[in-house]
Amino acid sequence: MKQNTIVLGAQWGDEGKGKIVDLLTENVSAVVRFQGGHNAGHTLVIDGKTTILRLIPSGILHNDVTCYIGNGVVLSPSALLQELQELANNGIDATKRLKISKSCSLILPYHVALDHAREKAKGKDAIGTTGRGIGPAYEDKVARRGLHAADLLDSEQCAIKLEKLAELHNFMLENYYGAEPISYKETLNELMAAREIIAPLLTDVAEELQRLRINNKNILFEGAQGTLLDIDHGTYPFVTSSNTTAGAAATGTGFGPLYFDSVLGVIKAYTTRVGAGPFPTELHDEIGAHLAEKGHEFGSVTKRPRRCGWFDAVSVKKTVAINSISELVITKLDVLDGLKTLKVCTAYENGEPIYTELPGWDESTYEMTNYDDLPQNAKNYVAFIEKAIDCKITIISTGPDRSHTITLG
Ligand code: GDP
Ligand code: IMO
Ligand code: MG
Repeated sequence: MKQNTIVLGAQWGDEGKGKIVDLLTENVSAVVRFQGGHNAGHTLVIDGKTTILRLIPSGILHNDVTCYIGNGVVLSPSALLQELQELANNGIDATKRLKISKSCSLILPYHVALDHAREKAKGKDAIGTTGRGIGPAYEDKVARRGLHAADLLDSEQCAIKLEKLAELHNFMLENYYGAEPISYKETLNELMAAREIIAPLLTDVAEELQRLRINNKNILFEGAQGTLLDIDHGTYPFVTSSNTTAGAAATGTGFGPLYFDSVLGVIKAYTTRVGAGPFPTELHDEIGAHLAEKGHEFGSVTKRPRRCGWFDAVSVKKTVAINSISELVITKLDVLDGLKTLKVCTAYENGEPIYTELPGWDESTYEMTNYDDLPQNAKNYVAFIEKAIDCKITIISTGPDRSHTITLG
C-alpha cells in the first residue's frame, strides 16, 4: 500500500469500505474520517465477530493506531457517546486511540428534528435520508452559525450560540413544520455532560497529520457514503449533504492535496442503493430479490432494505475519473455465485442501460483467499469489469470477514 491512501466508495455507498479500511489498517499509523457523520454504517467482521461503526474510523479495532475524526465530519455528541459505549461493552477503550478535530461541526437534536420534519413534509418526494440530522447540520455549518466541537470547551460561549440556534430552529419546527420544539435547557445539559468525555479528545487534526507525514508514517483516509451520493457529483437532490469524493479528504482534514499518494475505490460486484432516487440498472425481479437476500442487503444504520441491480460500468468509469482512483477493490463477488448469466451495463441509449451478458459460475467463491482457486468465469467477470472501467482491481473480497480476501500483486 502507498503511504497516504484514500479509501472511498465508487457507487451509492455500502460497497464494503469498512471491511477494506480495517484490512488495510495493519499497514498504517493513523486512520482518518473526513466527511459525513453517523449516517455511515461500516461493518467489520473479524474471526466471525461483527462490529458496526458509524462515526468512529474503521481502524479502531487495531492497537497502536490513532483514529482521527477530521473537521469535515458532522459530529453528533450523543451518537459518539453511544458508539464509545458499544465499543467499551466489547472491551475496547476507544478513547485511548481516538482524536477529534476542534473544528468538527456538531449535530444537535434540532438537526435531527428538522431532518424528520422535512422528510415528512416532502411526502412521496422524500429523499429517504437516514434521519440523523446530517443535512441540517451541514446547512448550519455553511450558514456560519453552527457549533464547533471547540465550543464545548467554553460553556458560556456554547450556551449563547446554542440559544440563538434554538430560537431559530424551534421557530421553524413549530411555525413552518408544525412539529414539536426541542428544549434548549435539556440540549445544553446534554452537551455539557458529553463535554466531559469529548473535551479530552479534541485536537488540531491537521497539525497532527502533518507531523505524521513528516515522520514518514502511513495514513489512511476513510470515506463514507459513495461518489454517487456526493452533494455536487451525485444524483442530486437524492444525495447526502457532503462531498464524498477524493477532494474532501484534503478539505475535510487539512491534509494538503499533493501529499496523497493513492486513491483506492471500493466497488461492489453488483449495485445497491438505499433511499430514493434514480437507479437505472435496478432489478425488480427475482434476481434482485436473490441479491438482496444472499448479500444481506439491509442498511446497517437504518435496517432499510437496499435496492439491488446489475453492475454499472458506465457510472463507475465516471467515478474513477472524478476521484482519480488509482486502484479498485471489488467486494461481494461471492454473492454472484450460482447465477446463470450476469449482466454489466456498458452503455446507455436514450437514458436506458445497454447490457453485456457474461456467463456466471456454479461453484462457491465464498471465503476464497487464492486467485487461482476462483472459477474461470469469476476471473473473466472481474477482468471484464477491469477492462470496461479501465482501472486495475487489486483486491477481491469473497466474504464479510477480514480474512475472506484475495490480494492481487
Ligand atoms: P460500507 O458502508 O461501505 O462500509 O459497507 P457496509 O458495511 O454498510 O455494507 C457492506 C456489507 O457487506 C456488510 O454487511 C459487510 O459485512 C458485507 N461484506 C463486505 N464484503 C463482503 C464480501 O466480499 N462478501 C460478502 N458476502 N459480504 C461482504
Ligand atoms: P455508508 O458510509 C448508503 C443515503 C441515504 C439517503 C441519502 C441522504 O455506510 O456507505 P443523509 O442521511 O445522508 O442525508 O441521507 O444518502 N446514505 C447512504 N446510503 N450508505 C451510506 O453510508 C449512506 N449514508 C447516507 O439513504 O438516500
Ligand atoms: Mg454502510
